[in-house]
Amino acid sequence: MVQRQLPNPVELLELMKFKKPELDGRKRRLEGALTIDDLRLIAKRRTPKAAFDYTDGAAEGELSLTRARQAFQDVEFHPGILRPAPTVDTSVEILGGPSALPFGIAPTGFTRLMQTEGEVAGAGAAAAAGIPFTLSTLGTTSIEGVKAANPHGRNWFQLYVMRDREISYELTRRAAVAGFDTLQFTVDTPVAGARLRDKRNGFSIPPQLTLGTIINAIPRPWWWFDFLTTPKLEFASLSTTGGTVGELLDAAMDPTISYDDLAVIRDIWPGKIVIKGVQNIEDSVRLRDAGVDGIVLSNHGGRQLDRAPIPFHLLPEVRKAVGDDFTVMIDTGIMNGADIVAAVALGADFTLIGRAYLYGLMAGGRQGVDRTIAILRSEIERTMRLLGVSSLAELEPGHVTQLTRLVPVNRAAAEAHAR
Ligand SMILES: Cc1cc2nc3c(=O)[nH]c(=O)nc-3n(C[C@H](O)[C@H](O)[C@H](O)COP(=O)(O)O)c2cc1C
Repeated sequence: MVQRQLPNPVELLELMKFKKPELDGRKRRLEGALTIDDLRLIAKRRTPKAAFDYTDGAAEGELSLTRARQAFQDVEFHPGILRPAPTVDTSVEILGGPSALPFGIAPTGFTRLMQTEGEVAGAGAAAAAGIPFTLSTLGTTSIEGVKAANPHGRNWFQLYVMRDREISYELTRRAAVAGFDTLQFTVDTPVAGARLRDKRNGFSIPPQLTLGTIINAIPRPWWWFDFLTTPKLEFASLSTTGGTVGELLDAAMDPTISYDDLAVIRDIWPGKIVIKGVQNIEDSVRLRDAGVDGIVLSNHGGRQLDRAPIPFHLLPEVRKAVGDDFTVMIDTGIMNGADIVAAVALGADFTLIGRAYLYGLMAGGRQGVDRTIAILRSEIERTMRLLGVSSLAELEPGHVTQLTRLVPVNRAAAEAHAR
């Protein structure tokens, strides 16, 4: 028999401790976001469709991006037990300097389109967190503007080698003078990928006002207020005539770039050079032998060649082929700190986040990027603790199994052939 009694008013009062309402709307929104997916939903509500789709979308059927995210979800972790790890150290040495976390911010073009604070928010948040920030050649803040936002931290510059080589060389020299320490030379854009969402939305740079964009703007007044009351949205380092992103990329990029360009850039750039957009083992080994400081296994967040290999699947074999002393970084599809832990366990020295950063930016400017970093940090720390490791160096391939949903149909034949 359950024993009943009259409710005790003192106990009831104790239960009724209501939280003080958070009056700062941005803070309330961001604190309610517990995952990067939560930030994505806030971003979607607050950003005009064309700008959100430019960020969220990928090329053609968006298969590369979907598969890359799925590959991270298909990780099985193997925790050790009864291994005391009272503290966790998430810091790493990368390309000759420190980073407080095993990820940095990837280069993204046209960042002020997503939210007016743009790269300044990204660089400021990176500075506060002690991680590197990468400015894109197609950035909307100048090299010097990023340096001012992150004066003591690590800034990296992403280079596109343009048809007009002198523009690229000049930017490289400027970044060196401003004290940027690493150059990411992106090589996966001989032509622009087919970003179908942009085509369907009639998205162009600078954005055009149509009846559709005006109707879409009505529930998003703050984005438009920012857009209309802050300096003009344009590439900070390039002068262009406008058009779709694809047209701009095609006009600017040179499909004939080669190892010769790498040699020229090497001569101009005094710091570290990594090649971004590497997608097979052979190129990884060749680049190591060519003397670059590292590579980024990446398919550009699925925005270029759709159905490209999943970087996370390439990682273990690339690591085996290039050996332990060559810097291998990875991006594409990272939405959770556990993805980063899995990548480090399988041999990545470092990772980059593109959309995870931009979702935070769209959800709440600088504070939103801070929130992205805080979410990833807590996921990394928790995953490490649950795995029973206290430093990133303790992570090893044995901590992770990559479950496969997608298996090459001819794998058995390929293996038989190899035997
Ligand atoms: C909106 C957007 C713009 C990008 N612009 C550039 C760029 O200018 N240069 C570059 O090398 N990569 C660019 N990327 C690719 C990112 O650097 C990175 O490789 C990719 O976002 C990683 O995938 P993730 O978004 O799933 O993290 C861009 C990505 C996005 C989402």
